[in-house]
Amino acid sequence: MSEMRIDILTLFPDTVGAVLHESIIGRAAKKGAVEINCVQIRDFTENKQNQVDDYPYGGGWGCVMMAQPLKSCLEHVMAAAHGKRSRVIYLSPQGRPYTQETAKRLVRDYDHLVLVCGHYEGVDERFIEECVDEEISLGDFVLTGGEIAAMAVADSVCRLVPGVLSDEQCYIGESHWDGLLEYPQYTRPEVWEGREVPQVLLNGDHEKVEAWRRRQQFIRTRDKRPDLFDSFVPGDKDERKLYEEVKMLTGGAVLSGQVGCRRAAEEDLPAIFQIVEEARAGLKKQKVDQWQGPYPGEQHFRFDMERGECFVLLYGGEIAAFFTLSAREEASYAAISDGKWTEGMRSAVLHRCAVAEKYRGSGMAEKMMRFVDEQALAMGLRCVRTDTHRKNKPMQRLLRESGYRYRGNLQVTVEPGHDTARQAYEKIIKLRK
Ligand SMILES: C[S@@+](CC[C@H](N)C(=O)[O-])C[C@H]1O[C@@H](n2cnc3c(N)ncnc32)[C@H](O)[C@@H]1O
Repeated sequence: MSEMRIDILTLFPDTVGAVLHESIIGRAAKKGAVEINCVQIRDFTENKQNQVDDYPYGGGWGCVMMAQPLKSCLEHVMAAAHGKRSRVIYLSPQGRPYTQETAKRLVRDYDHLVLVCGHYEGVDERFIEECVDEEISLGDFVLTGGEIAAMAVADSVCRLVPGVLSDEQCYIGESHWDGLLEYPQYTRPEVWEGREVPQVLLNGDHEKVEAWRRRQQFIRTRDKRPDLFDSFVPGDKDERKLYEEVKMLTGGAVLSGQVGCRRAAEEDLPAIFQIVEEARAGLKKQKVDQWQGPYPGEQHFRFDMERGECFVLLYGGEIAAFFTLSAREEASYAAISDGKWTEGMRSAVLHRCAVAEKYRGSGMAEKMMRFVDEQALAMGLRCVRTDTHRKNKPMQRLLRESGYRYRGNLQVTVEPGHDTARQAYEKIIKLRK
């Protein structure tokens, strides 16, 4: 006896069967974990023409499926599934929208599902009143028939039946299992079309991989499905902390318009200093001994501007971020330790950069990094090097997520009297074909 029997009542049993008897669900059926029967409604008509539909009373467009063949077909499958916990479901655009929670409930509470597929203008209302336990919709749109919806329900239910997938871990943690979307997935090769697999997945540190994946689930859900993120209830203390942290990131401005980038000019200095002060305070709060003295000061920005190396990002008419990108070599980068730069690459150097507080977490930093790439390419350089304080975790994360790789350690000279140890990062910009 299979764990789950599904009878699909349809006018197109061959089409539905051909799909469901393929792949994982097909193999599960062969193993006996599930039993799927696609039953032809037309075989249960009581008229000579095997007619299943007729004109609607009151007039109107199209035909309506008659109640009698549906009921006879249903009685046939119910007799065959005698003793099972059955549920009769009519697939309908008027039903409750189908979710993973519905799939879980159906597997938990029943071992026999009857999926009734309507066609034409739908089915005689009296059949629904008389025989149907529940109406399920695939979404707020109208299909030609219930077959696609029935296949979706059957597939998603079957993969939750014990013995269908190799391990329950296959579906626990997938999108919608606990209200979140799944983390991003990667497979070989490590670099494809210039895009690298995130470093954390290559190091074999399972704890770090798990932590990264959980965080990605929160971020993805927040970004792709804010409705799900808002209604998510975190479980334990750690989850609550992570939830609040990721939620905070959206607390700032939401970017809906165009972000521009241009070379900075003298009149931008007050806005740049304002951002520097916010960054300085933020670093202090995080106990990062970077930008805690006079650096970066007016003379640095004037120097950058004179050489056309300082850029500002503009959003809604205001300066939202700045960065300095130089084609000149950085003397302190020659003495890299515990690693090395990529050999034979001429590089641009990303120096001073920061995002205004109100735009943190809005995606502005990621946009800034894309403008950095663009400017480097405009300079004829495909390699960008930079450094950041070893405790400046947000910057390190931004760099990694923007395609930079850790290359080693170095000491900077610009902040005497402070912690001058820095981590070196490098990005080779891959050109799109
Ligand atoms: C063209 S539809 C009939 C729609 C119906 N006249 C109405 O407006 O509610 C034909 C059949 O497709 C199926 N169907 C259409 N949209 C669906 C949806 N969103 N979810 C599930 N089944 C759907 C139902 O079985 C329905 O009987």
